[in-house]
Amino acid sequence: MGSRILGCGSALPALRVTNDDLSRVVDTSDEWIAKRTGIRARHIAVEETATDLGVSACQKALEDAGVDAGQIDLIVCTTGTPDALFPSQAALIRAGLGAVNAVCFDLNAACAGCVYALTTAHSLLQTMPGMRRALVVGSERMSRAVDWTDRATCVLFGDGAGAVVLERCDDDQGVLASVLKNEDDVDDVLRANSLYAGDFPFTAEGVAERTAEQIAAQSEAGGQTMEEALASTTCVGDAPLLLMKGREVFKFATRVMPEVLQEACDQAGVAVEDLAVVIPHQANERIISYAAKKLGLPLERFHMVIQETGNTSSASVFMALDDARRAGRIQPGQLIGMTGFGAGLTAGAVVLRA
Ligand code: COA
Repeated sequence: MGSRILGCGSALPALRVTNDDLSRVVDTSDEWIAKRTGIRARHIAVEETATDLGVSACQKALEDAGVDAGQIDLIVCTTGTPDALFPSQAALIRAGLGAVNAVCFDLNAACAGCVYALTTAHSLLQTMPGMRRALVVGSERMSRAVDWTDRATCVLFGDGAGAVVLERCDDDQGVLASVLKNEDDVDDVLRANSLYAGDFPFTAEGVAERTAEQIAAQSEAGGQTMEEALASTTCVGDAPLLLMKGREVFKFATRVMPEVLQEACDQAGVAVEDLAVVIPHQANERIISYAAKKLGLPLERFHMVIQETGNTSSASVFMALDDARRAGRIQPGQLIGMTGFGAGLTAGAVVLRA
């Protein structure tokens, strides 16, 4: 028995923020961001909630699959930036969809969430009697987790949602193998202590006329410096900051991405070269390029949307998958690899037959 992807969908917020726009918020440039990351723009949810984005992506996936919301038995939502601590983001999306027959819950594996959620849904479809179809959705508003005064991190992230409809099938199609990996983040290389609670440098029209210094001054009352926040490793509410040691994350990502993809291929009994398309976590074009080189695959096999979306955390793989499918890059019968990595530290890969 297996489970296969019947349909995909994704959603981006209306506001598109280019690198040039961001250079009015922090001291940066299109040249620096594009050269180091491949990112040209990202979308920022000013009015959209994570529920709005998630519901929209799911509706498109349902339409693509030709399935009604009432036929969904399970919703697994992966997010690090939910609208509420509870109800779960999955419960809010369930209500928005009218998926009245679905069991639902959230899963947080940071930016590797997509691979973890797909694996979890696949496993439940195999083992739970009566469960036949699942919606697996990643919905993120990273704009509420980043520190908009920290140019080294805020330029990297964006908001969005992606979803797939997964259906149990009787043959060994669809998901063929899955690898999940964790390592302790002993050096605190990637951490968000709480959702963003400071000022916000955007309006529905675009970037607000405010300097980084003004935003920093307004956030100061409730904030901490990066060093203070890093020193208090049990802090859960005081520092509204995403904290990252970029070079360390870069090293982790370029090491684990090829490792987990190779392991998943070995487990599936296929060669890496047989993957027609790889859908990597969209964190940095250079990370993807390194991984491609290590695996001996041409970069063209790796589908990217990062230029337009930035890093949308656990939504990114589903968003890129949707884009690849709609662009006609994924044909029935082809082998597809999906891989992610993120805070935790987490990493994972799935190999499936389309
Ligand atoms: N604009 C302009 N300059 C910037 C900048 C920005 N947005 N951010 C940092 N800089 C400057 C730094 O201050 C530094 O200046 P200095 O040399 O005068 O001190 C210089 O650029 C180099 O900074 P560094 O951090 O060493 O750059 P880098 O080559 O390591 O690239 C990242 C930084 C973040 C792009 C890179 O480390 C990375 O992508 N890491 C992985 C991050 C990631 O994927 N996170 C999510 C995981 S899910």
